[in-house]
Amino acid sequence: MKTKYPPINEKFPHFLHGGDYNPDQWKATPEIWNEDMRLMKLAHCNTMSVGIFSWSSLEPEEGRFEFGWLDEIMDKLAENGGYAVLATPSGARPAWMSAKYPEVLRVQPDRKRILHGFRHNHCYTSPVYREKTRLINQKLAERYKDHPALLVWHISNEYGGECHCDLCQQAFREWLKARYDNDLDKLNHAWWTGFWSHTYTDWSQIESPAPHGEKYIHGLNLDWKRFVTWQTIDFFKNEIAPLREITPNVPVTTNFMGTYTGLDYWKFAKEVDVVSWDNYPMWHGPQPDWELGAKIGFVHDINRCLKDGKPFMLMESTPSMTNWMPVAKLKRPGMHLLSSLQAVAHGSDTVQYFQWRKGRGSSEKFHGAVVDHCGHENTRVFRDVAEVGRALEKLDKVIGTTVRPEVAVIYDWENRWAIDDAQGVRREKDYLSTCEMHYKTFWQQGIPVDVINMDCDFSRYKLLIAPMLYMVRPGVAERMEEFTANGGTLVVTYWSGIVNESDLCFLGGFPGPLRKVTGIWSEEIDSLYDGEYNIVIPAPGNALKLDGKYKAIEMLDLIHAETAEVLASYDCDFYKGRPALTVNNFGKGKAYYIAFRSEFDFLKDFYTRLIDDLKLSKVIDTELPEGVTAQKRSDGDKDYIFIMNFSPEEKTVDLNNNTYEDLLEGSTVEGKLVLPGYGVKVLEKRQPMTHN
Ligand code: GLA
Ligand code: ZN
Repeated sequence: MKTKYPPINEKFPHFLHGGDYNPDQWKATPEIWNEDMRLMKLAHCNTMSVGIFSWSSLEPEEGRFEFGWLDEIMDKLAENGGYAVLATPSGARPAWMSAKYPEVLRVQPDRKRILHGFRHNHCYTSPVYREKTRLINQKLAERYKDHPALLVWHISNEYGGECHCDLCQQAFREWLKARYDNDLDKLNHAWWTGFWSHTYTDWSQIESPAPHGEKYIHGLNLDWKRFVTWQTIDFFKNEIAPLREITPNVPVTTNFMGTYTGLDYWKFAKEVDVVSWDNYPMWHGPQPDWELGAKIGFVHDINRCLKDGKPFMLMESTPSMTNWMPVAKLKRPGMHLLSSLQAVAHGSDTVQYFQWRKGRGSSEKFHGAVVDHCGHENTRVFRDVAEVGRALEKLDKVIGTTVRPEVAVIYDWENRWAIDDAQGVRREKDYLSTCEMHYKTFWQQGIPVDVINMDCDFSRYKLLIAPMLYMVRPGVAERMEEFTANGGTLVVTYWSGIVNESDLCFLGGFPGPLRKVTGIWSEEIDSLYDGEYNIVIPAPGNALKLDGKYKAIEMLDLIHAETAEVLASYDCDFYKGRPALTVNNFGKGKAYYIAFRSEFDFLKDFYTRLIDDLKLSKVIDTELPEGVTAQKRSDGDKDYIFIMNFSPEEKTVDLNNNTYEDLLEGSTVEGKLVLPGYGVKVLEKRQPMTHN
């Protein structure tokens, strides 16, 4: 199947390379602006994100707008062949506004209204803030609608947090009325409010969760989080309304924050034209870079999947160090190109930074930037950035291509909310790190993976992995049954099928609606203290040919195989001999149930057997050395292969008799490929000669 997406904006069908640019901090020294233009070209940067926190420069007094400086910047960008990702300024507001309209200031969960300051802290309901943002956005759109530099709208900045003011409480109640058909009994049932006599008799009694108030109604907590996502999106829709009207052809995005738990990005992604995200890994930190590399790959994959494979934007990343980290370590030589191309390998059509130039004052003056305080181009970081720019210029062919994996891991926001809130069976339930661990073998073997939520279409995958699917929303189990019956392989683990979408436990035996497809009944779940473990022993002659001994830690389901076959059992404690791993033949497919939490060794063996069994295709059919991964983007016809070494040592990859073109070097490679520490290659496979 041929699939190539159009570029983010047809105006500029190349990789966007640039970053957050704050010329308004340098209004007093406009000669810097000209210097910026000279440096941008030298850095092979073509796109700057402007205006992100510029409200007080754009509207210094209520109703008095000053666009002169921005006109100049937009013109300069265009004259120099550059483009703008133009921001709406709502991420931070001018002091005059907070002073005159206190309702724009957020109220904390403890019901205290914040003082003016910081950023990302406005009320999402406030009619005044909505009106003010809409007005300034309208002015921006009217002014720059035909400007040659305008490429993408950057809405606000990193939406997040929540407001508990009276306006938000009222909006929450209205949202609940719509969700529960105006029926308070329905809400009381869904939230199980009979518990502790918490039954509501009037909508006005409902309040958002509070540290000094209601916090143990899990259904309320879940619905509040859903509301916060909904209300933030509603605010966003209000922001973009004038842009949609005045600039219908300019794509809109807002920068997401990876696995930030405060917003369900699956809902938000539907409203943007292109997904973008800000990526700040702690490279060279306490965990080896190749462990972290896999985790970052996981998040890039989420961002690609949010719009079903459509290329995304790496909106922010640091050119060197990240000042807010406990240790702001420099990127080692090679890491900047590697981490930038990693984003591209997983589906990004941009590499953008925070920030273009370091400011002189305030809290981000030591944050990595393309241009340092020295002010010139003769720095290591500047050269690294220019190298990325030159590399991207050679990869035009990759634009719009995507990744179509045979494997998907489910990582679901609502499921995470529910798991994190549950009291039992351990305080730390580690949903995210469990999903990452299930992903890791594929990353190590160079097998692309989609990271999806439980509402996505499963039918295109051969293997669907659902770690800790605690919440099962309506219809999901049925779709899993259909997937498996049609020949798919499903993997479900302990602590799955426990609650419905309101956090009400399934009755009649866990894993609730997944019981039929998995063919097991989970009677109890044991939880172990840190350091304790059980042992899992594979059954002699088991179909997966597992023969190791594995530790079972932390969470152990005590299950009965109903229609399933037992592949491994516990070896200790009162449940010695009880099943720990099962497989259920279901229609044309199979459903595995992993009853225990393991260390990585088990998952590695288990998935390696499944990879062989299902003949999952690897990006290069070879064994990759530790620390090296391979990812692939394709238009369905041509494949672009990224081989990345996340270790500091040189590694050799056997190309297995294939011939490739090295797109960065313009040379031919075959035989053995030697990658230096943190080395990266982008290869295009030569079509094999056809012999008639
Ligand atoms: C976030 C913000 C930026 C900047 C960077 C610093 O991603 O969006 O404005 O503060 O962090 O890392
Ligand atoms: Zn509010």
